[in-house]
Amino acid sequence: MAKFGTGAILFSVLLQFTACVSAQLSLPNPAFLPPNASWGAVPSSGGSPNPQWTVLLGNSLYFYEAQRSGRLPSTNRVSWRNDSALNDGRDSGLDLSGGYYDAGNYLKCTFPLSFTLMSACWGALDFGKGYDMTTQTPYLDDMLRWGLDWLIKAHPSNSTLFVQVADPNYNDAYWGGDQNIPSARPSYQVNDTNPGTDVAAAASAAFAACSILYSNSTSYNSSNSSIPFYRASLQNGTYSDTLLSHAKSLWTFANQHNSTLYQDSVPAVEDTYPSSDYKDDLTFAALWMSWASNDVTLYNQTLQMYNNYGLGGSGGGLDGVFNWDGKTPGIPILATQIGSIMEEQWQGYYDLNSWQTHAETYLDGVVNGQGRAHTTNGGLLYYDGDSDEASLNPALNAAMLMTRYAPMASSPQKKWSYQSYASSQLDYVLGNNPMSVPYVVGMNPNSPQNPHSAMASGGDDISHIDTVPAQEAYVLYGAVVGGPDSHDKFWDIRSDWPETEVALDYNAPLLTLAAAHVMNDTSDPYYTTLQVGAYSKPKYHPCDAVFSCTPSLSTGAKIAMGVCLGATGLVIAGLTGYWLYLNLGNRFPSYDGVSRA
Ligand SMILES: *[C@@H]1O[C@H](CO)[C@@H](O)[C@H](O)[C@H]1NC(C)=O
Ligand SMILES: *[C@@H]1O[C@H](CO)[C@@H](O)[C@H](O)[C@H]1NC(C)=O
Ligand SMILES: *[C@@H]1O[C@H](CO)[C@@H](O)[C@H](O)[C@H]1NC(C)=O
Ligand SMILES: *[C@@H]1O[C@H](CO)[C@@H](O)[C@H](O)[C@H]1NC(C)=O
Ligand SMILES: *[C@@H]1O[C@H](CO)[C@@H](O)[C@H](O)[C@H]1NC(C)=O
Ligand SMILES: *[C@@H]1O[C@H](CO)[C@@H](O)[C@H](O)[C@H]1NC(C)=O
Ligand SMILES: *[C@@H]1O[C@H](CO)[C@@H](O)[C@H](O)[C@H]1NC(C)=O
Ligand SMILES: *[C@@H]1O[C@H](CO)[C@@H](O)[C@H](O)[C@H]1NC(C)=O
Ligand SMILES: *[C@@H]1O[C@H](CO)[C@@H](O)[C@H](O)[C@H]1NC(C)=O
Ligand SMILES: *[C@@H]1O[C@H](CO)[C@@H](O)[C@H](O)[C@H]1NC(C)=O
Ligand SMILES: *[C@@H]1O[C@H](CO)[C@@H](O)[C@H](O)[C@H]1NC(C)=O
Repeated sequence: MAKFGTGAILFSVLLQFTACVSAQLSLPNPAFLPPNASWGAVPSSGGSPNPQWTVLLGNSLYFYEAQRSGRLPSTNRVSWRNDSALNDGRDSGLDLSGGYYDAGNYLKCTFPLSFTLMSACWGALDFGKGYDMTTQTPYLDDMLRWGLDWLIKAHPSNSTLFVQVADPNYNDAYWGGDQNIPSARPSYQVNDTNPGTDVAAAASAAFAACSILYSNSTSYNSSNSSIPFYRASLQNGTYSDTLLSHAKSLWTFANQHNSTLYQDSVPAVEDTYPSSDYKDDLTFAALWMSWASNDVTLYNQTLQMYNNYGLGGSGGGLDGVFNWDGKTPGIPILATQIGSIMEEQWQGYYDLNSWQTHAETYLDGVVNGQGRAHTTNGGLLYYDGDSDEASLNPALNAAMLMTRYAPMASSPQKKWSYQSYASSQLDYVLGNNPMSVPYVVGMNPNSPQNPHSAMASGGDDISHIDTVPAQEAYVLYGAVVGGPDSHDKFWDIRSDWPETEVALDYNAPLLTLAAAHVMNDTSDPYYTTLQVGAYSKPKYHPCDAVFSCTPSLSTGAKIAMGVCLGATGLVIAGLTGYWLYLNLGNRFPSYDGVSRA
């Protein structure tokens, strides 16, 4: 600590925030380790908990362990990972080591991390019994604390939140293992002079949601028997209080500067995770805060916020997707859930029916393919723009929202329609698609072999990402990849980050869906029925942000390209795509002008 700034010490003393490290529940002995992919080709004998869903849930959590940054504990299960980026935060006089690498690179990004932690805690509030039934709860605790403990360090004072570590342009020029990460890793903050409403609210929502999960108070248990609500058993009142104090502090900070986009304060996030709005973040955080602090007045105000901000209108957020940037579709669903669960304690005085109507307007729109929502020929929910990179993410998030909402539906027909739509999307992701590929790494022999992950690839030659090494060095078990294109085609090419990259937020909805299926599904996930070897790479090449949509290039262009790429002959990458890849980051949102909030 002496090496770091006294300012940081002063703040931590003033705030009396507890520093905590790693899992508190004892981890299983022997440890859960992913079986090899061939295991997912053998149908199980069923039962509850179903062994295949159990492994899917376990692997989905294991993915996060592979993404860890900082000093790894002795309990680390991912044998090929090493300590890394131990000096993060030094430039700001702080220890910001730890936390998670966001995706296939070595950036640490607070906005999508916050979304991921919120989503994981939300799912563990609803379907937490799925973690308990499979002895995965200690790993859940471990996974959450690894993220939350870092987020605590990233919030060293009431009005300071670190929003990114490492420079995207510089970082993306590095492709290699975790031992040689370039050491220049600047840390970027929002504060009173350069605020960020969206990111502060999102972090507040994560802390609030997780404080409810960790709370030892039974007042969060549902007294409404029509709502199946089983928190995972990891309660710890001390930790819950710590999380709640950060939630409150960030909530205040977000409201003190209630209309700023954080990329206007921190241009370095413009190329990674710029936010398209703050209104959805503020309203969503208000809901979580109302529940975490048992505040019916605040809960009641959220409907006004929602209406005043125009979040419910068509063409507004209700026509959008739920993701790290767009929280709007989650608002009426969470609001209905809180209102139903707290009805007896809060004695009404709020308009639950309006929330339920908003929720069903959104979900029915998705089911019926209204507005921007449509399905591919193979059946994947697809939004032009949002789905062009990481197509599975909007679909998985919609399935997650529907699975959660279904028990609260206003009619048995609607309940059925949400449940069956959610199943269709999850089945697609797990192999019921024209490629016969379960889009989760290491689950089945047909799973992707080339996730875009510098760590897992074992390669260190940025100009030969696809071919060096020929086979990816490590299996990144449990990672959801970006997904196929709008024609259901998937190429499994390492450099093609729109289809093959992995990310913290891509996996988040799968955690919740897998936990729900552990609870309620005795039959196997779809992939055990797949014919092994059914996957074959489609002809030509993808047409996306990496690969040129032009079918063939002129000889001159091919020669020019050879200088950059080497004449691999395997892929025909457009110069433009490659330039974008090198210069704009592995993963950036679509600049298509489509509102994502
Ligand atoms: C509860 O969490 C706190 C803070 O992380 C930790 O110090 C304590 O050991 C935990 N208690 C139990 C019983 O796990
Ligand atoms: C995969 O695991 C099974 C046991 O579950 C084992 O029989 C098989 O040899 C393993 N295959 C590989 C390639 O490691
Ligand atoms: C971790 O270190 C070992 C030993 O140096 C190395 O083989 C391995 O590739 C490293 N892992 C990563 C992800 O770079
Ligand atoms: C506040 O944040 C801005 C933007 O990140 C940064 O340039 C500035 O140095 C910060 N102020 C303090 C006092 O750290
Ligand atoms: C309420 O939740 C707590 C913590 O999860 C649990 O210990 C307790 O058994 C629950 N009570 C009821 C009535 O469900
Ligand atoms: C719950 O946590 C609080 C601290 O927030 C503690 O005082 C209390 O003893 C805990 N109760 C139980 C039953 O663990
Ligand atoms: C930080 O905010 C909390 C409430 O969120 C408040 O109680 C505390 O006094 C604030 N600390 C400082 C140093 O301003
Ligand atoms: C935003 O902050 C301003 C100034 O403090 C305040 O007047 C306004 O009511 C706030 N708006 C919301 C929606 O909280
Ligand atoms: C909820 O808000 C409505 C107006 O929007 C108001 O009439 C009602 O009194 C409020 N209820 C509570 C408990 O704050
Ligand atoms: C239980 O939840 C349902 C669905 O949201 C709601 O309609 C009902 O009013 C709630 N019942 C009680 C007793 O809280
Ligand atoms: C799970 O099954 C129980 C009955 O066993 C049912 O009450 C509940 O609604 C189901 N949950 C979901 C999410 O389908």
